Amino acid sequence: MIRRQTGTVPGCSELQGDFNNMNELSAFPKGFTAIVVGSTGGLGSAFVALLERDPRCGHVVRLSRSSRPPLDLEDEASIERAAASLAARGDVHLIVDATGILHDPAMRPEKSIGQVDPEVIARAFAINATGPLLLLKHFHHLLPRKGRSVFATISARVGSIADNRLGGWYGYRASKAALNMFLRTAAIEISRKRPDAICLALHPGTVKTRLSEPFAADRERFEAEYSAQMLLDVMNRAEPSAEGAFVAYDGSDIPW
Ligand SMILES: NC(=O)c1ccc[n+]([C@@H]2O[C@H](COP(=O)([O-])OP(=O)(O)OC[C@H]3O[C@@H](n4cnc5c(N)ncnc54)[C@H](OP(=O)(O)O)[C@@H]3O)[C@@H](O)[C@H]2O)c1
Repeated sequence: MIRRQTGTVPGCSELQGDFNNMNELSAFPKGFTAIVVGSTGGLGSAFVALLERDPRCGHVVRLSRSSRPPLDLEDEASIERAAASLAARGDVHLIVDATGILHDPAMRPEKSIGQVDPEVIARAFAINATGPLLLLKHFHHLLPRKGRSVFATISARVGSIADNRLGGWYGYRASKAALNMFLRTAAIEISRKRPDAICLALHPGTVKTRLSEPFAADRERFEAEYSAQMLLDVMNRAEPSAEGAFVAYDGSDIPW
């Protein structure tokens, strides 16, 4: 699925040292349009900054709850309006969904089953799974019928059912697993009319953003721009596949 760079993946600090050497997004057409949803977030703003510096990228559309038009994942009409506002632009070759939630003042990831609250679980699903599915519903029409294009959603390794060894974080894990299933299901359908479209669920590593702050502040974390650069490189190297793929920042496949 991903054409690998040569060499093994070294430790995280070494990796952070050499990302400036990465190339432009050579697999996308010159002057291509990219959309970043969640452009206000740690990873989302890093994607915007990198795409704006990429000489191949002609235009970057930022969408968020505070953009014009605003896009709120919990309000389907706002998603539909945002997609409709872009329909006249022509083909969009890259759509990156960098939205997501792990915690907010009313929401903490559960350490044990006793902490499970149906309202919190429903909110995690609404933002982490149903919202991105609605993005796929309304935005996939913007991808070209012919030629390579990418729809990438930022998932998380903890959404892997096969890789779950620690337990906990019921709502976040399950909502990311649902996101992965939605992505793969949509990939199969999208590939029928857009055989060169690539749908990716991506794991960014542990990244220094407000999402990870309360849980990983004492751990080694990637800078957002470093993780976003690695993920753009994955998007650049990915090959069409009717089933989509679940891939980490270093290009390695993650079991669904
Ligand atoms: N950071 C990590 O270590 C890590 C690890 C694994 C996976 N991830 C995933 O990476 C993605 C990006 O996270 P991040 O670390 O960059 O976190 P972040 O800085 O908190 O960004 C989250 C983004 O999601 C947006 N968002 C939240 N609720 C929304 C809604 N209802 N409608 C529209 N947008 C909404 C936020 O918009 P507002 O600015 O309007 O709130 C913000 O742009 C998430 O899917 C996360 O699960 C992150």
